[in-house]
Amino acid sequence: MIKILRNPAQIVTVNADGEDHKRGHAMNEITVLENHSIVIEDDEIKDIIPNSRKLRLHTDNVIDLSGKIILPGLIECHTHTAFAGSRADEFRQKLSGIHYEEIANAGGGINTTVTAVRESSFEQLCELIKPRIDYFIRQGVTTLEIKSGYGLSFYDEVKLLQVINHLDDIYTIDIVPTFLGAHIFPKEYKNDKKKYMSIITEELIPHIQKNNLAVFCDAFCEETAFSAAEVDEIFHAAAGHGLKLKLHTEQFNRIGGLETAIKHKAVSVDHLEVMTQDQYDLLSGSDTAGVVLPGVSLFLDYDYAPARELIDKNAIIAIATDYNPGSSNIAELNLVMSLAAIRMKMTIEETISAVTINAAKALDRGKSTGSIEIGKKADFAVFDTDDYSDIVYQVGKNLACQTIKNGEIIYDKYN
Ligand code: NIG
Ligand code: FE
Repeated sequence: MIKILRNPAQIVTVNADGEDHKRGHAMNEITVLENHSIVIEDDEIKDIIPNSRKLRLHTDNVIDLSGKIILPGLIECHTHTAFAGSRADEFRQKLSGIHYEEIANAGGGINTTVTAVRESSFEQLCELIKPRIDYFIRQGVTTLEIKSGYGLSFYDEVKLLQVINHLDDIYTIDIVPTFLGAHIFPKEYKNDKKKYMSIITEELIPHIQKNNLAVFCDAFCEETAFSAAEVDEIFHAAAGHGLKLKLHTEQFNRIGGLETAIKHKAVSVDHLEVMTQDQYDLLSGSDTAGVVLPGVSLFLDYDYAPARELIDKNAIIAIATDYNPGSSNIAELNLVMSLAAIRMKMTIEETISAVTINAAKALDRGKSTGSIEIGKKADFAVFDTDDYSDIVYQVGKNLACQTIKNGEIIYDKYN
């Protein structure tokens, strides 16, 4: 079926000329069209035409977007949305000056959420997560990555991945499941790390491949979590079983994670708050996307990743919320865009590239989504403003008013 998205005040195409990402200063070029309309056929973008051109197509299916702007559907490429319980008590401790890692070392942190997830059934988890997905959709998100990582046993990691896959089945948006069994060593294997490593590499990863439960394998490479050598072993197993790779790395310390991820040609490296100058070329010279998470820096009140420097060095940079209960209880993509602009000195245009084409790249989907180009998926976010700067300038305000996925309106603020 043919549909016309008629006459938005601006079409921000984020055109990447057929590439699946924007690198360095190209992130600043987002291509804004006025007096144009978008033609979609079924779930694909068929054409982008000037309003002056006489329409030869016959369709009653016209969506009038006058006075609004349209962007590619937003891509949220790093979240821990599949959690249970609250860590408000630990938030209070953080406010009184106790460090995130201290709380973790005392047996709290991720462990607290693991206990809550283990106590929750498949159905309970689904009901907890649905409103969070709806909240992302109401922001214009059409592709959402969700990690496991709060089960940390064979049974509970599989349960979480089944929940995420079930939600992908029932929602129109694309939900991308990531296996994060290597989040931390669970309490029961603190003194037998080898055993937990074998559960990941010999039991979970083969099972996940066999049952098609995840697209990505992620890990947390930090002193309190997994060493670079352990990540190396996990990545060998994961890649050998057809999983694509991501890594949480250089968040609190540098222990070789970035180098290991680049060696394995990981699709993305995420966090990077303590990355230093001597590592910039390594990332910039690779095809790996750097995902920066400014919500974590706000929430934990520490340094921001060197996004400005990395973009100036020609890296591929994406932004995400890292939505989770412990280090970024922030699910507002527009807020983290504003933080990236204000605290990381990214331009408004760069933040837009970072939540569209480059976030798609961080999920290895930049060929099919992330920009408004002919042949790509008809995934769009419509905003209630006539100037795209407002998305970043109106700090913390959600201006999204329609979300269109595969050519269908799945959210309409006014209907
Ligand atoms: O990306 N750093 C590791 N994992 C998450 C935090 C998870 C949690 O504290 O629950 C992150 O920051
Ligand atoms: Fe994370």
